[in-house]
Amino acid sequence: MKVLVTGGAGYIGSHAVVVLLEAGHQVVVLDNLANGSAEAVARAAELGGGAVPLIEGDIRDRPLLDRVFSEHTCDAVMHFAGLKAVGESVEQPLRYFENNVAGTLTLCQAMAQTGVTRLVFSSSATVYGDEHPLPWHEGLPTGTPSNPYGRSKLMVEQVLADLAAADERWQIGILRYFNPVGAHESGRLGESPRGIPNNLVPYIAQVATGRRESLAVYGNDYPTPDGTGVRDYLHVMDLVEGHLAALQALGRRQGVNVWNLGTGRGYSVLEMVRAFEQACGSKVAYHFAPRREGDVASCWADPSKAREELGWQTRRHLAAMMADTWRWQQANPEGYT
Ligand code: NAD
Ligand code: UD1
Repeated sequence: MKVLVTGGAGYIGSHAVVVLLEAGHQVVVLDNLANGSAEAVARAAELGGGAVPLIEGDIRDRPLLDRVFSEHTCDAVMHFAGLKAVGESVEQPLRYFENNVAGTLTLCQAMAQTGVTRLVFSSSATVYGDEHPLPWHEGLPTGTPSNPYGRSKLMVEQVLADLAAADERWQIGILRYFNPVGAHESGRLGESPRGIPNNLVPYIAQVATGRRESLAVYGNDYPTPDGTGVRDYLHVMDLVEGHLAALQALGRRQGVNVWNLGTGRGYSVLEMVRAFEQACGSKVAYHFAPRREGDVASCWADPSKAREELGWQTRRHLAAMMADTWRWQQANPEGYT
């Protein structure tokens, strides 16, 4: 298959490029480099053993999309392009809805016009809200995400459901990620946050290299075994293998299909710190700070639907997530820059 990967110069998209190439697919990347890097695409191409054209452009640019689809006969789209900083989305909601929601509408319009109707979309566990008992499974109704970023994901899910109901050509996979972490085993690809990392593992990694002084642990009074927040962390390579499985499964399915991608178990912030210390062989300084607004105490997936329908489950454990993050961080202390 030939697959258009939007956001393929970013963290998860670049890892997806590697597994797509390894599976024998052709790949074209479309990315505006707002948070991605051409170097990531070059390295992914090298690791996957294929040539990958990078089109520097925006999913909101309809004439560009029409040109891309006419020049490249694509069979499917993996749609990673989006803005993802939760705090920023609270300050700049219109920018988030414009980019994530309107951008996806434009992409879908261009796809429909050219008859490319197989789509894998990056959603998030945040669409469940926080009102359900754990673990979260796809049969639960969606809830109220606590921020505009999360609401942009929920809106896109709703748009895709309506689209598939109206036009039976569509084969859509909505993948609800839990917490992707880690890096490619080679240490050549990884997460390269600009500025101060918002997410736990990139922050820990920067404390370990001495770039940041101490991790602020947001809350130690949650109803969890050690009082700190619990999340379902999964290795980014497992995550992108889930995308490959979804892409294949969509060939046999119509309409919208929702799959959780997670391990099914949670780790606390302090367990993550200890696991990272094991991987890097030194202490990671931390201090307790107030809870972060919008955080839930705990969340983990019921991943059984993906196991049954996609034949996919995570294979890499916490030690590998941390060892791979550390290898990447040491080899690329400043990311791709
Ligand atoms: P990322 O920021 O590393 O990658 C996103 C890429 O999309 C970047 O390279 C950016 O330049 C590009 N992009 C953004 N807006 C664009 C636009 N309008 N046109 C073209 N390119 C654009 O983020 P990531 O962690 O790789 O996330 C990929 C997707 O997965 C995002 O949609 C994100 O919301 C979703 N997601 C991520 C997580 C996570 O923890 N990383 C969790 C759940 C969902
Ligand atoms: C967050 C977003 C989610 C988004 C995901 C990936 C919120 C409410 N949710 O998930 O929508 O899809 O990132 O971008 O922001 N923590 C610390 N100190 C830190 C950073 C995090 O203690 O410096 C804690 C958090 O309180 C949480 C855990 O670590 O308990 C994981 O945090 P994070 O990596 O930011 O992911 P989520 O909050 O789960």
